Amino acid sequence: MSDGKAAVDSRIDGKLAIEGGSPVRTQPLPPEFPGANYYGEKEEEYVLRVVKARNPFRFYGPDLQNMCDKLEDEFAKQRGSKYALGVSSGTEALYVALAAFGVGPGDEVLLQGYQWTSCINAIVRLGAIPRMIDIDDTFTMSPEDLKNKISSRSKAILFVHMSGAAGNIEPVMDIARKNGLKVLEDSAQSNGAKLNGKYIGTYGDIGIFSFQINKNITAGEGGMIICDDEYLYKRCFAAHDLGYARNDKGQLMQTSDEERYQIFGAGARMSEVTGALALAQLEKIDKITTAMRNAKWKIRKQLEDIPGLSFRRILDPSGDSGCFMITIYKTSEICKNFTEALKAEGIRGKEGSLHTLSMEEWGLHWFFNNLSLVNRRSISPSGWPWTLAENAFSKDYRYDRKSLPNCDDLASRSALLMVPSSLTDEDTNDIVVAYKKVAKHVL
Ligand SMILES: Cc1ncc(COP(=O)(O)O)c(C=O)c1O
Repeated sequence: MSDGKAAVDSRIDGKLAIEGGSPVRTQPLPPEFPGANYYGEKEEEYVLRVVKARNPFRFYGPDLQNMCDKLEDEFAKQRGSKYALGVSSGTEALYVALAAFGVGPGDEVLLQGYQWTSCINAIVRLGAIPRMIDIDDTFTMSPEDLKNKISSRSKAILFVHMSGAAGNIEPVMDIARKNGLKVLEDSAQSNGAKLNGKYIGTYGDIGIFSFQINKNITAGEGGMIICDDEYLYKRCFAAHDLGYARNDKGQLMQTSDEERYQIFGAGARMSEVTGALALAQLEKIDKITTAMRNAKWKIRKQLEDIPGLSFRRILDPSGDSGCFMITIYKTSEICKNFTEALKAEGIRGKEGSLHTLSMEEWGLHWFFNNLSLVNRRSISPSGWPWTLAENAFSKDYRYDRKSLPNCDDLASRSALLMVPSSLTDEDTNDIVVAYKKVAKHVL
C-alpha cells in the first residue's frame, strides 16, 4: 500500500468527529457564493465607468454607458436567443414573464413542488392559481405527473431547473405543445447549464435567470429574461417598466405604440450599476461553472460505489453548472445523522453558511413549507385571488405535505452540498475523505 493511500485510509477509519474523534478538516470551506468568489478588476472597472459618468439610469442621463444594453446583447448572443431583457430580480422576471403570457384570474400555472417561493409568488400576485406537480429523481418536474394534472384551466407551465442542473424539459415541451400551453423556464439556480448541448432557458417560450448573490454569477440583485418571440419580448418590456414601450431617446411612448403593448408595469428596471456588475460576471460564467462542475464530479465519481448512498439523476453531466451535489439516503434518520456527522468533520463554511444541509432544512424550496400558500393567504382582506369566482375550480387543490408523494419522500431523505467555485484540490480531497469516513460509520 502506498504511503498516500495508507494516510487516506487512516483518516477514513478514524473515530467520527461527532463522537469525539479528530475532524477531517478544521479550515472552513471557501464561501458558497459562486459569482462573488470571482469578483475582481473587471467588476470594479465597469462599475467605476458608470459612477464616473454619473449615469446609473439605463435609459438616459448625462453620459450613458449602455451597460444594460451591452449585458443584454452579450447574454442573448451567448444563449442564442433573439431577445434579452435585464430586470431588477429573478422574482420580478418570473412575474413579468407570466404577465407577458397574459396569466390571470381563472388560470392555473403548473409548477413543481421543489422550487423557490418566488415562483409561487409570481402566480398568486397575478391572480392565478398554482397547481403543484410532483418531482422525480431529477429533482425537477415529473413529466408523468404533469400529464395527469393538465386541465381546461391550465394556461402555462413554470418549469424550474433546480440546484444547478437541467431538468427533464424535453418531454415537458412535447406535452406543452400538444396541450397549447406556454412554458416559462426558471433557470435562476442553474445559469449557464446546458442540456444536450443547448442552454437551458432556450427550450421554453421564455427563460429567466437571477443575479442574486447565491447564483452562478451575481450583481447582488438582478435578473434576465430571454425569448425569441417579438410579441412576448415587447409584452415583457412593458410589464417590467411602466407599462409602455420607450423610444430611442429612452422616453416612454404613450401614444404611438400598439395597444397590446400598453399594459401596467412593475417598475422592475435594471440599473446601470447592476448591468455593469452582471456584464463583468457574464464574461466569467464559463470559468465559474467549469470550476464547480469539475470539482463536483471529481467528488461524486469517488463516492458513487458506496452502498446506501445515491445521487440525484443528472440528465447531462457535461452541461451541469455544478453548484450543488444532492445525495439521497435510505431513510430520513440516516440522512440527518449523515449530514450532521459531515458538518462535524469540517465540511462546512464559516458560521452561518449553508454548505452542507439536509433538504428538511431547505425551507421555502419545498411548497409545503410555504405557509402563505398552505393557508391560502392574501395581501387583500378580500382573500383574493383564492376567493375569486373565476378561481373556484381550485377549491380542492392541496398544498400541504401529503399532497405530492415524491416531494415528501425526497425532502425527507436527501441532502445538499453547495460546491464552492474556488475549491482547491486539497478541499475536494477532504470532502471525499469526509463522505467516505461518515459513510463507513453511518450507512
Ligand atoms: C428557482 C428560483 N427562482 C427564482 C428566484 C428569484 O430570484 P431573485 O432572488 O433574484 O429574486 C430564485 C432565487 O433564489 C430561485 O432560486
